[in-house]
Amino acid sequence: MNADVEVDLVPQQPPLLELRHVSKRFVRPLDLPARIANLLGAGLSDEVVHAVDRVDLGIAEREVVGLVGESGCGKSTLGRIAVGMLSPTKGERRWRGARLPDLPSAEARRQQLKMQMIFQDPYASLNPRLRVVDIIGEAPVVHRLIAPQQQVEYVGLQLNRVGLDPTLMRRFPHQFSGGQRARIGIARALAVNPDLIICDEPVSALDVSIQAQIVNLLQNLQQRFGLSYLFIAHDLAVVKHISDRVAVMYLGKLVEIADKKTLYDRPLHPYTQALLAAIPKPDPGLRTKRVMLQGDVPSPFRPPTGCRFHTRCPHAQPRCSAEEPKLREATSGHRVACHFFETLPVPTIIARAGMANGKLSERLAAFEAAKQIRMPG
Ligand SMILES: Nc1ncnc2c1ncn2[C@@H]1O[C@H](COP(=O)(O)OP(=O)(O)OP(=O)(O)O)[C@@H](O)[C@H]1O
Ligand code: SF4
Ligand SMILES: [Mg+2]
Repeated sequence: MNADVEVDLVPQQPPLLELRHVSKRFVRPLDLPARIANLLGAGLSDEVVHAVDRVDLGIAEREVVGLVGESGCGKSTLGRIAVGMLSPTKGERRWRGARLPDLPSAEARRQQLKMQMIFQDPYASLNPRLRVVDIIGEAPVVHRLIAPQQQVEYVGLQLNRVGLDPTLMRRFPHQFSGGQRARIGIARALAVNPDLIICDEPVSALDVSIQAQIVNLLQNLQQRFGLSYLFIAHDLAVVKHISDRVAVMYLGKLVEIADKKTLYDRPLHPYTQALLAAIPKPDPGLRTKRVMLQGDVPSPFRPPTGCRFHTRCPHAQPRCSAEEPKLREATSGHRVACHFFETLPVPTIIARAGMANGKLSERLAAFEAAKQIRMPG
């Protein structure tokens, strides 16, 4: 291990999708009062949100990478960059080792089909004026994966894959339940034969009883079709269930990444430790030493200097606000952005966070019931 060298995050060669040093900034224009104040000489300028900052991430063939972090830390922005819905302000995307152009060529559009996205709100993401047969069948016809006369048969096959009755394909989205709409969104993504699906909070809008069904469906499809997922979620129990590796984001930065067993057994970044300590425990006997976070979540308009976590970190030292920590390798494939991870204590009980046995449905129900325990801070 060389403590001074920033390592490339990408462990596979070549990864299916690779994000290299991607950043995204959003400019929020001044509101009317501020513009009026400027007319009077206030000298205010537009605010810039540093949503994603120099993130390196690779996703291998057939790999599921979980992405976790608090609300507003940049998960969806990173997912949208990954799938090509947003251009990064800086950095690049590579697909099977080849750079993807920012401006789509015919070849890039063909490759683009290989990356699909499933959204959090299964209703908002389905066009309410289209019947399911068109929601699922339109893209395969437009992109000539199938002939128009094959559409009905093809959509029936896709509905079967996700456990829906093909005879319902003439219905509109509002005629389905939330869980069924989630299945329609999955069928739509699968219909263009993708290799990679970005799943952005795919179950968080669903009843807890339905969540486990959809997570299990996604897992079965991933294994059956050899898919890769970037699986974005708040729920660390769900992420642990489905992921091979897990990446942790804080205020636009990747702060830790490892295979899931390493990350959940031995989290080294104080922020990851705090996230895991905040998981509600289904087993009351399974007590986790709480890792208290100090202070509020900083503004993404003015992220803290040095380590962005230093305003809340219980282990912060003067160096933390002065120098930004690089992602460094702790053990093979386990990378951590903290100046002091080698010397910090790892709370031992955290290692068992989210490790309760039982079916996912039972664990999710138990987690839901225990959700009065929240992350402090
Ligand atoms: N189009 C946009 N214009 C301006 N700011 C944006 C835009 N999209 C996202 N942001 C800002 O970028 C930051 C990251 O947002 P993002 O939606 O990626 O977070 P997230 O981690 O997905 O949050 P959540 O868990 O709530 O979905 C936030 O501060 C958000 O307000
Ligand atoms: S670099 Fe400092 S502030 Fe950041 S996580 Fe490590 S100890 Fe905490
Ligand atoms: Mg989001």
